Formats: sequence, structure tokens, C-alpha cells
Amino acid sequence: MNGYPAGMTYETDGAAPPEEPARQLFFIRKCEALINKRAQELERPLCYFIQTFGCQMNERDSEKLAGVMGQMGLIPAPSEDKADILLYNTCTVRENADKRLYGRLGVCKAYKQENRDMLIALCGCMMQEEHVIDRIKSSYPYVDIIFGTHNIYRFAELLYSRLTSDSCVKEIWKDASDIVEELPALRKYPFKTGINIMYGCNNFCTYCIVPYVRGRERSREPKDIIREIEKAAADGVVEIMLLGQNVNSYGRGLDTDIGFPELLSMAAEADGIKRVRFMTSHPKDLSDELIKTIAEHENIARHIHLPLQSGSDRILEAMNRHYTRERYIDLAKKIRDAIPDVSITTDIIVGFPGETVRDVEDTLDVIEQVRFDGAFTFEYSPRKGTPAAEMEQLDKAFVQENFDRVLSAVQRISKEQAGRFEGRRMEVLTEGEDEKDPSRYTGRISQNNVVHFPKSGLRVGDFAEVQLDECRGFYYNGTVVAPQT
Ligand code: 5AD
Ligand code: SF4
Repeated sequence: MNGYPAGMTYETDGAAPPEEPARQLFFIRKCEALINKRAQELERPLCYFIQTFGCQMNERDSEKLAGVMGQMGLIPAPSEDKADILLYNTCTVRENADKRLYGRLGVCKAYKQENRDMLIALCGCMMQEEHVIDRIKSSYPYVDIIFGTHNIYRFAELLYSRLTSDSCVKEIWKDASDIVEELPALRKYPFKTGINIMYGCNNFCTYCIVPYVRGRERSREPKDIIREIEKAAADGVVEIMLLGQNVNSYGRGLDTDIGFPELLSMAAEADGIKRVRFMTSHPKDLSDELIKTIAEHENIARHIHLPLQSGSDRILEAMNRHYTRERYIDLAKKIRDAIPDVSITTDIIVGFPGETVRDVEDTLDVIEQVRFDGAFTFEYSPRKGTPAAEMEQLDKAFVQENFDRVLSAVQRISKEQAGRFEGRRMEVLTEGEDEKDPSRYTGRISQNNVVHFPKSGLRVGDFAEVQLDECRGFYYNGTVVAPQT
């Protein structure tokens, strides 16, 4: 767990300091006192459970929320029904994510009947939408705390308000605030973590809700990012993932010349960091310099996630993506030529308004040409407030048929692609026990493929050279050649 930043005072008497993060540290101590008192009454520690939906950004936010709760003396609950504080960090990128939350909230009612003291808190992207808040208020009145994406750092203060009052505490900000640094975080894995390099998105792809719920693009100062990376490394983290909605536009608006390629080099060269990943790159502005930076640093993962969305120029334009199919294909070729063994993965949306069989054929054609190593295929889901939601929607059965075609193409190709490392020796990061066989470990190669192998005296977080003996669809079985690389 991260400690408190040096040089802060943690007085809990008197008024809360106005400046951050001192203010939240003050409320952490206030909550801690109340939580300790309650724990003594109950003769057991109080515990929390965080259920995270959605992307790596949310995963990282949840680590920060866990850090704050850890500092208050709360411990992780064994399961969500046993929690004293149950927190859902929500996603709204597609409708399915919304449905999952409402399903969970139905179950929460029963939890509350069992344990009237249980606090239910909701945060994340869904909470930035007015219609969601209206529905929660009317249908799920037993929710205790609601906050959004912009004020997540204020969780301690909001929890304190709820602990000292009887009514629901709701705080949603429409706009982003300054970035608050130096609050604690509790990493889910001791050996790897995400590092936010920027927040928000300015691209306004016409299907996407993210710019509305995560706000405008803001980059963190390079020195703050590097300090966080060095601290993580000192704590034993060996792999980091630099996170942003579009990392290629990192640095805009800052008073430095450091763009994403420079930042990535700095991260790769930080002491103790053995592997650097990043997510996500928009094809419209992935530069030659970035490709060169990756090629020059062996410890930058040979994996680029490059969302295609569609292979049809007409649909790409309607999506406001700012590239053509040709440009995408050329870019992928350039990447494969410059970075041997690189893995390119993608996101594809099927069923965007106006998409015809011809457009789907174009998408299938790009899939064949680029030969993606992996792809997430999504059915288009209209998001309230986005331009595409106002367009005429397609027939569901038609979309389903196209979706199945795209899915089977990407699955066939990524399976073929996966086999290309069979028989090779690759560096693997040991990530944990193999779920199906606890006598073995599961790890990942730089390209992100999963490998299962005998434990061979290794520990989680160790790198090893592993011979990839056989490819079983999407994963490898391997044997350890050299325990430490
Ligand atoms: N419908 C379907 N998929 C979407 N995505 C974003 N918005 C939508 C939507 N409205 C997908 C995109 C993006 C990924 C994170 O989610 O493919 O890259
Ligand atoms: Fe959404 Fe497009 Fe921004 Fe990605 S780049 S978060 S798809 S608006």
C-alpha cells in the first residue's frame, strides 16, 4: 500500500483544510475514527468490496478508492454480500454495462435487508448521466452515496458526510477539476499496475459516450507520472500500463515538449520497470516517432491495441474517426515492419447506423489484410446524448448476422496468429496460479498472449524464459527454460 505523501499534516481537529490532497487526508482520518469505533462495537474489523465494471481506467480508479478505504482501517471483504461498504464503479460504454449494474442493485436490496448498516456507494461513468441518477433515485432509494468521475478523489469526504448523516449523499460534477495528485492507492496486483497519464477525451467519435462522462482531455505532468512510476517500482511493481483514452495526444496543453513517445521512453527507462504497456492508441495520430520508440526499447511490450471500429470509409467518416481504411492498413503494415513479432489487437463495432453488407465486407477485408492478433467485437449500442443515437437504427437480426460474420473472421485469424510463436522461447511475466491447475502458473508474454507452465520454483511477479511448447487455441502450454531473465 502507498503511504501518505511526505510533508503533509494530518490534523483532524478544527476545520478541514481547503487545499487538496490535505483535505481528503483530513477526512480519511475522520472516517477512520468513526470506523474504528464501530469496529470496536462489533468486535470485528469493518470491510469493503469494490465491484469494477468496464475498462482499465476504472480498474485504476478502483485501486485508488481501495487505497483510501485501506487508510481508513477497512479491510477487503471476502465477498460482496459480506461487505460493510459495497462500492460499484460503473461503466456506460454500452448498454449491457448499464443492465449489469441495475441487476446488481436489485440484489443489493436483499443485502440491505440482511445487514441494515451496509452502505452502498455508486461511482464511475454511469453516474455522470442524468437519466441514470433519476432512475436510481426512484427505483433504488437504498443507495447511500453517489458520485461521478470528476470528483472521485473526494470519496473520503463524501463517505464522512454519509457516516455523519442519515440521507443519501450525492455529488456529481458536470466538469472536470484540476488533477489531484498524491492520494493513496492499493494495487490489485503487487507486481503490475496502471498509471494514468491523461484523463478524458476530445475526439467525440459519434457513437461514444466517453467524452461526455469523462470530460475534456487533461494530461498529467510528466514529473508526477515518473514519480508515481518510480514509487511503484520501489514497491516491487515490474510491469506498468500507461493509461489514457488516446495516449497519442498526451502532453497537449502542458508547458513541456514531452509528447507520448518521450514519456514512453522515460517510463521504459525508469529503474526497476521491466515491461511497459500502454492503452489506447487512436490510429489517426499514431506517429512514426512512437513506432521508433517502441522498436528501440525491448522492454516496451510488443503489443499495440489499435481500435479499427470499422473497415468502411463511409462508416469511419460517419463515426468521426479521421482516418480511412487505407491509412489504417498502411499504419498496421508500418508497425509490423518496424517491430518484429508485434501483436496488433483491435476493437470493431458492428451495426453502426447506416451500415450495409458492403460496409461489413470492407471491415472483413481489413481484418484479412491486417490479420489481427485479437479483436473485441461489439454490437453497436446507442448511447443517449451521442450523435449516432439520433440516427436511424438498424434491424437487430441484420446486425446479428453481420456480427456473427465479423466474429468468426476475427476468431479464425487470431487463432492462426496465436500459433506463430509455437516452439519459440519467450520472456514471460508470472501473473498467478493457473485457475484450472493450481500446480502451474499463468503468465503473459510481451505480446500479451497467455502461457501456462509448471511453477519451477518461480514466484508471482518473476520473469522467466519459457519455451512455448504448444498453442491451444488462444493460450500456450510451456516449460521454463531459465527461471529469471
Ligand atoms: N456501441 C458499441 N461499442 C462501443 N464502443 C464504444 N462505444 C460503443 C457503442 N456505443 C467500443 C469501441 C471502443 C471500445 C472501448 O468500446 O469499440 O473502442
Ligand atoms: Fe470514445 Fe473515440 Fe474518445 Fe475512444 S477516441 S474514448 S472511442 S470518443
